[in-house]
Amino acid sequence: MRINMSGQIALVLIGVLLVLPYQSQGLVARSSDRGEKSPNVTGRWLWSHPNPNDGTTLMSYFEINQNGSLISGHAELPWGGTTEFAYGRISGSEISFRVGTGKSSVVFRGTVDGMKMRLARTEAGKTIQVKLSKLAAEKSNYPTGETLPVIRSLPYNGLAVTPPMGWNAWNHFHDFINDRMVRGVVEAMVSSGMRDAGYIYVNIDDEWAGERDDKGIIHSNRNFPDMKGLADFVHNKGMKIGLYSSPGPQTCEGHVGSMHHEDDDARTFAGWGIDYLKYDWCSASFVYSDKDMRAVYQKMGAALQKTGRPIVFSLCQYGRENVSTWGSQVGGNLWRTTPDVQDNWSSVLGIWESQHAIASANSRGGWNDPDMLEVGNGKMSQQEYRTHFTLWAFLSAPLISGNDPRSMSPSTREILTNHEVISIDQDSLAAEPLRIAQSGGVETWMKPLSGGGFALLFLNTGNHERLVKAAWNTRETEAPIEARDLWSHKNFIIPGQLEAVLPSHGVKLLRLPKSAKPPMSISTFGK
Ligand code: GLA
Repeated sequence: MRINMSGQIALVLIGVLLVLPYQSQGLVARSSDRGEKSPNVTGRWLWSHPNPNDGTTLMSYFEINQNGSLISGHAELPWGGTTEFAYGRISGSEISFRVGTGKSSVVFRGTVDGMKMRLARTEAGKTIQVKLSKLAAEKSNYPTGETLPVIRSLPYNGLAVTPPMGWNAWNHFHDFINDRMVRGVVEAMVSSGMRDAGYIYVNIDDEWAGERDDKGIIHSNRNFPDMKGLADFVHNKGMKIGLYSSPGPQTCEGHVGSMHHEDDDARTFAGWGIDYLKYDWCSASFVYSDKDMRAVYQKMGAALQKTGRPIVFSLCQYGRENVSTWGSQVGGNLWRTTPDVQDNWSSVLGIWESQHAIASANSRGGWNDPDMLEVGNGKMSQQEYRTHFTLWAFLSAPLISGNDPRSMSPSTREILTNHEVISIDQDSLAAEPLRIAQSGGVETWMKPLSGGGFALLFLNTGNHERLVKAAWNTRETEAPIEARDLWSHKNFIIPGQLEAVLPSHGVKLLRLPKSAKPPMSISTFGK
């Protein structure tokens, strides 16, 4: 076995990358031999993991050969290069192998469960987890030479008149999803008031798909034994159901994608009663170039429209190829404009900073999608979650909660069901936010609202509490300004000047009437 220089760099990078994903998924690998029969692991396995540089998905492949209890094979890394395995063993469901040689080698150890392999390695006292998914088709079998449709503009499907609202399994659950859990989430969305606050779509993300049969029909996997039954259940609760697929041969988690089966899948989804499709680029990058994206998405957009069922079409290609300029023409109702959101403040702030300038692309039926909400997932403060929710409302973003509604705290519920903030998000004007001042880490924004009033936002991006003083020119104002605080739910009069203490990463959000003007001057003070 040989490993060249780029292979060594790659292994160091593996070490760095391994720290990032799946840290919280509780994998335990034990090494006892219980004399169980080993599963057959020969085949191609996918490790998909977020790219720490831009949040897109990186895909590495592990080609595994099993000979009795011996494991050999190689890893293909996303940045190129192939690295062989050594010392591979499988005993019962427990597997281990070493990738590379010498100091830079990495030992993977864990368990196999059908099409999934959960591996771990320990580094600097930390257990780092990696999940592999067995691929449904070999990469070498990918069909090529596709004729893509001629570019045209599909008609508007009449959906998503305001930014779609709902829930999606991915941010909180990743692959730990099944029919029972989704039904539980639906019940919780009804009893908590989420449904009545507008969260209508219940979206199953990656990990529902099973095999495609000889007739080309896709089936759900054993975790979703009756997709039509689940859709009926959701519909009976007055809600709608969403699914997920990829224009490539595989989804980001290695399940079968819709490539060459767009019409088949659209018909299957419509037959099950699906109301929303998230269509994630993932492995499409192996068979198409970015320049093909518009035609590739148009293909599924047309297939969905052909079914005659109203299905919200959600494009997910991380904002590449200026998607907001053509998303609605391929039948899209929303299109991701960012890499994957993370449950931390710098991700939320980074997304806000990259998104407010392109919010003018929003209009009835077609929305920029800065990714789903992380509110309630535990790694930010309540203050930061309030700010996250407020900023998404200022962007007129789809509000797709990504938490576990079955166990949500009262404060998470209070944020997600704040109907006054939701009304800013859903406002029919969908106006872009306008920055009117910025000083001392405090930004002041306004968003014109239908009916002539506007929302006024003070945002403290800094790490310290700030005092904000906003002054109005009272001579021009005939009556005192009556304002509404959308987080404390109180009306109050602004007597020419407003003072507000903003905690670090905090906001103050007001709704002002048509008669009011924005403040004339804003000053901020350290506290
Ligand atoms: C990509 C998407 C995520 C999620 C995962 C599922 O990373 O951007 O939103 O759908 O794939 O594999």
